[in-house]
Parts: sequence; structure tokens; C-alpha cells
Amino acid sequence: MLNEQMRNILQQMPKAELHIHIEGSLEPELIFALAQRNGVSLAYPSVNQLRKAYAFTDLQSFLDIYYAGASVLLKEQDFYDMTAAYLARAQADNVRHAEIFFDPQTHTARGVPFETVINGIWRACQDSPVSAALIMCFLRHLPEDEALATLEEALPFRDKFIGVGLDSSERGHPPEKFCRVFERCRQLGLHLVAHAGEEGPPAYIETALDLLNVERIDHGVRCLEDAELTARLAREQVALTVCPLSNIKLRVFDKMDDHNLLRLLDAGLVVTINSDDPAYFGGYINQNFLSTFDALPLGVEHARTLARNSFSAAFLEGEAKRGYLSEVDRFFQQSTASKD
Ligand code: ADE
Ligand code: ZN
Repeated sequence: MLNEQMRNILQQMPKAELHIHIEGSLEPELIFALAQRNGVSLAYPSVNQLRKAYAFTDLQSFLDIYYAGASVLLKEQDFYDMTAAYLARAQADNVRHAEIFFDPQTHTARGVPFETVINGIWRACQDSPVSAALIMCFLRHLPEDEALATLEEALPFRDKFIGVGLDSSERGHPPEKFCRVFERCRQLGLHLVAHAGEEGPPAYIETALDLLNVERIDHGVRCLEDAELTARLAREQVALTVCPLSNIKLRVFDKMDDHNLLRLLDAGLVVTINSDDPAYFGGYINQNFLSTFDALPLGVEHARTLARNSFSAAFLEGEAKRGYLSEVDRFFQQSTASKD
């Protein structure tokens, strides 16, 4: 059991969230409210019935429900409301900075214009006291040509997103399928990240680095199956955006006690803790910290490292990054000094 002091530290420490799919923050109550507002019919008769369907066996079983949930998003205000709700939760968890994924193809495929999606999400980011930036993800189960077409649609809004990512069904859709679109994004000066080594093999982490030139790996927990790759990630200080509750709900690990987060830290990797799809996996970022620290032998020093890593790995520039890192250092000086 976590003691009171540790709980307070985890909840109150300043942190950045680097792996959150905004569509995965859509709570069942908001899904129902938006369905009613937009006249969309749902396959579930009630919020409780919908919640009951959140019993996943793997990534694909989750994605099927996640895409169904996103079908209620039609208007710019819907995207605004979803994002504003997430940012309010993030602020309550002392998130200072969030780099938020969005999946435009999930919406444009249903006839929702790209500008509706990005304008709603972006406007909510502007209205929040939390610093927020957007990362546009390509759906890897779709062909690369569709990712290229999405990038073209996004170019008039280039100032509204800082990078691109790669998500959706991992197995059978290796990073190398998206070489051309990532190369084009690199030339455009966008930051690059990709999901790899969540369900897919460690080789996907390697090709994401070598062929897509990504700067961070989303998940990446399967890297420990390859000692050479692990050593490389440590040497090059490639950040991993780990999502512990997601990994349990999607059966990457059977239970939290089996999670390899401490082994990743002990291997010298730049590990961060994030929520992935908090409305579906049982909690926002602080719940991820609490559940992980409850199950594994982690202490104050690990909390400090994880908070520092979240800002070191963020796509923030000089002064802003230094400011947040100093805030973390001050927080830990105060919270560890007060007991003497
Ligand atoms: N899209 C939303 N959540 C995801 C995850 N955990 N992995 C891959 N794609 C996703
Ligand atoms: Zn994810």
C-alpha cells in the first residue's frame, strides 16, 4: 500500500503527459451526451452497458470499441468539448504540459472535415491554462497513400500541430510501411514519434528509429526482449512513453506486479508514465502513477526521475523546458525537506 506522503508526491508533482489519444479521453457519459445532441444511435442502451463492454482481450478488441465511441464526434464543438474535458482532468492531475494525439482519419472517413477536427481540438487547447500541443497520428492499418493524402489535407493547418505519430493495429503493419510519409514530415520540420513494441516485436522499435527517424517511441515496452536494442535505447537516450494501465487492460502484461517499468528504468532508459486512453483503461495520468507505484518497489527518487523525464522528453524549447525542470526540482526539494 502506498503511504500518504508518496500518494501526495505522485499527485502533486508537476508533470508532462506525452502519450494521450484525445479520442481515448471520451468518457461514456460524454459519448451518450454527444450521441443525443447529434442524433447518433449507439449499439449500447446505457452508459453502464457501454462501460461493461470495456473488457478487452488485446489491442484490436479495444480499437473496435474506441472507433465506435468516436463516431459521435461530428461538430467542431464536439471536438472542443472532448478536449476541454481532458485538459480539465489533466490540470487536476498537475499536468503542466500535454502533447496530445489525434486521429484525423477516424473522422474524415466518416465525412467530418479535417478543419472541423483540428479547429475544435486546437481551440480548446488555446482556452486551457495547461500548455498543450498537438501530434497528428496516421492509422497504420490503412495504406500509406491515405496517410499521404491526410498530410496534404493537414498542410493548411501546419501551425496547429507540432508533429506526427503512428497508431492503431500494430501487428502486421510495421513502421517501414510509412517511410515516405514520415520522410516528407521530417522535411517539413515536424517532430516524429511512433507506437512500436506495444504488441509488435522489438524489431518494430528498431525500424521506427532507423527508417522513420522517430525521436520518441510510444510504449516500447517489448524492447527488453532484445538486449542490444535495450542498450542502444539507453545509449541514445530515446524516450519511451509507457502507459501502464493500458498495458494491463490490453493484456501486454497480466497484472501490474508483472509490469517491466522498473526494469526499463534500471536499464537506464528514459521512461515516462502516461495514460494512453484514460476513459477506457481505468484512469488518468495520476491513476497510472498510483497504480504503478502501488504494485512495484518504486520510491521518491523514481518519482523525481519520471517527472524530470516527462519534461526532458517533451518537445519543448530551451527556456520553457528548463523552467519546468526547475519546478520539478523545487517541488522535490520542498517535499523531501519538510519531514526533518
Ligand atoms: N490508438 C489509441 N490507443 C492506441 C494504442 N494503445 N495503441 C495503438 N493505437 C492506439
Ligand atoms: Zn497509444
